[in-house]
Amino acid sequence: MGAVHQLAKPGEFLITTIIDQEIFITRGEDSVLRAFYPGDFHGVRGVKGIEHFNPSDFGLVSVRVETLIGLIFVNLDANADALTDISESMVKDMRASCPGLDDLVLSRKYELQTAANWKTLVDNNLESYHSAVAHPSLMGLLDYSTFEVWEDRFTTCHAMTNSNPDNPAYKVGAEDSVKRAIYTWLWPNTAFFIAPGPKNLGVFQMIPTGPESSLQRWEFYFESEQPSESEQAYLDWTINTLIPEDTALYESVQHGLRSQGYSQGRFVINRNRPEWSEHHVHRFQKLVHDAIVTAC
Ligand SMILES: [Fe+2]
Repeated sequence: MGAVHQLAKPGEFLITTIIDQEIFITRGEDSVLRAFYPGDFHGVRGVKGIEHFNPSDFGLVSVRVETLIGLIFVNLDANADALTDISESMVKDMRASCPGLDDLVLSRKYELQTAANWKTLVDNNLESYHSAVAHPSLMGLLDYSTFEVWEDRFTTCHAMTNSNPDNPAYKVGAEDSVKRAIYTWLWPNTAFFIAPGPKNLGVFQMIPTGPESSLQRWEFYFESEQPSESEQAYLDWTINTLIPEDTALYESVQHGLRSQGYSQGRFVINRNRPEWSEHHVHRFQKLVHDAIVTAC
């Protein structure tokens, strides 16, 4: 829901919304981060003197809060597995690609309403075979012959090395720290992008807003708040080229799903050619299925 550095001092706070739940998070005088459902802030002053009414009986209900790679996460499920446990392999690989990852600061936010279900966005982010057709400049930036994938219970990873410093996407300097791109996903709806170039982290949340609508919420972290020239070139390419290319796909897939001619497809699984395989999409859809069955 934000970065740890945004709440560095006691009393600083953030407010965010998860579906229909507003969440308030602040750092206390004891320096501990705490999150709450705001609940009923109102009327507390008016209850003074009322018999058998103790305001502390109606305090704020707390929400689980955890931090990871310099970011703040909340979880409405108090019984969920610890974030650090489920993300251990993912974070290890991300830190290997981008030393100093945990110390980056928020530089740019970008949001975009999209006419597609949030699961359509996640599906797209979990396979790479669309890149050859949809992302010609990305294909120039990355060497797909170095494509590596792995998955854990609640995370997945796609990694590739930079192929050409002077490519159609943006220039990558020889002195830049990040040589290996790593694109990871954390169940259910968050993806992390570390791209070749200066130290960077993109956080991409795919937020459901309706059966056929989602909010893309992007945050870009660099070494300082003000992007350098090369960081700005990366931002411009991501926001003006990469995101629109994927958004067109999300919306066209959603359009196809609405067709009465569509019933279901089948997964293309080929672990020997991971750049063509949908086994991460299958993993995600199984997690969705299991979550729905458990909730029922
Ligand atoms: Fe894409």
